[in-house]
Amino acid sequence: MNEKDLSICHRWFDDYTNGFHSQNQETEKNIILKLNHTYRVCDNITKIAKSTGLRRIDMRLAKAIALFHDIGRFEQLQIFGSFNDRITVDHAALGLKVLGRSGILKDLPGRERYLLQRAIWLHNKFAIPDTEKADSLLYSRLIRDADKLDILGLLTLHFDERAQNPNSALDYGLDDSNVFSMEAISDILQGKMVRIAVLKNLSDIKLMYLSWAYDIYFPFTLSCIEENGYMERLIRHLPADPEISRAVDHIKAYNEKRQRAFI
Ligand SMILES: [Fe+2]
Repeated sequence: MNEKDLSICHRWFDDYTNGFHSQNQETEKNIILKLNHTYRVCDNITKIAKSTGLRRIDMRLAKAIALFHDIGRFEQLQIFGSFNDRITVDHAALGLKVLGRSGILKDLPGRERYLLQRAIWLHNKFAIPDTEKADSLLYSRLIRDADKLDILGLLTLHFDERAQNPNSALDYGLDDSNVFSMEAISDILQGKMVRIAVLKNLSDIKLMYLSWAYDIYFPFTLSCIEENGYMERLIRHLPADPEISRAVDHIKAYNEKRQRAFI
């Protein structure tokens, strides 16, 4: 991807997203939230890609993937008033439809177009298939790490300030109580990410974000999570319970083992 292709993508993104600004304060807040998320993910992907030292990464393609990864969120919010894929649509699938409709990718070389579309499709899936080819695997891992890093920052802040600054869109519409699901605990103890299907209350969501530790690929991302204390801050918002402690200890031990492996 050349510089001109990338600036065309940026111009289209600005034009397209400009049409979603709203007089409704709540909607506007969430549009701004997604715009800022996108810009930070662009920044994250650049830093993560640089940290790998891999020359074969096309940085402009990586930036375009980051720019478009959540393009479906704008229509999702406009049509359904929610970011919850479970009760609305798969926002990655909707994003690919939006891009297809716009024709913005039509002049890209076929392989680049495929890699971009594939990384967007895979950015919100539970896992990348084992059969994924090396180049697609690399861009998919980059966007998943860059996205998770920002979401962890955003959600940690949301839970830190939720009492003063509530945003139901970030709560998945779930109840805030001291209850949690044993399925979430069991997923974590098996070294798996908590499945969206088991989320029943706000504690489960916090456990799910903690369990993302199992799906972080690049050492740089892990260091950023560590430096910002995202895990520790999330843990503070969980109920005091022996089962929760067991799950938290499991994740902490996993993170420490990985950190040691990088040194
Ligand atoms: Fe997304």
